[in-house]
Amino acid sequence: MKKKKKASTPKRKNWAQDMRKKLINAAKTAQKKAYCPYSRYPVGSAVLMESGKIYTGCNIENASFGLSCCAERTAIFNAISHGEKKIRALAVVAKSARPCGACRQVIIEFALKDAEIMFVDWQPLEKKEKVTYTTAAKLLPKPFNPSQAGL
Ligand code: THU
Repeated sequence: MKKKKKASTPKRKNWAQDMRKKLINAAKTAQKKAYCPYSRYPVGSAVLMESGKIYTGCNIENASFGLSCCAERTAIFNAISHGEKKIRALAVVAKSARPCGACRQVIIEFALKDAEIMFVDWQPLEKKEKVTYTTAAKLLPKPFNPSQAGL
């Protein structure tokens, strides 16, 4: 008697790992577009939104230094301005990738609580990469909370 074939299930086991790689690669590509003539410190970021789409951004500096915008905020504003609502995952790529305080507050505004945040320390010349994982909720203790402020 012929053996019955097992019902084939889609191979979703590696979905999360593939998506992480995709997000990190998108952030690395965005990093190459950084406009950073003053700091010479290129940063790239990529966000995976609830829709499943990925949006990217890089840091964009200005001769009036305070007007510069970080890569994370560029990526998030890019996504939001395309009608996206919530962040499922975010990657930031730099020599020492740690979002600044302002970006953390912006991430919290748009991220799902358990959104995965990846800090990717990346040295392109040495091809050295170190990824640190955290969640949006852990990024900023006691953030400014609009509902507590009655906003
Ligand atoms: N920067 C980012 O784009 N993201 C960060 O997480 C930290 C810093 C930018 C701002 C500025 O253009 C350069 O890196 C040096 O501070």
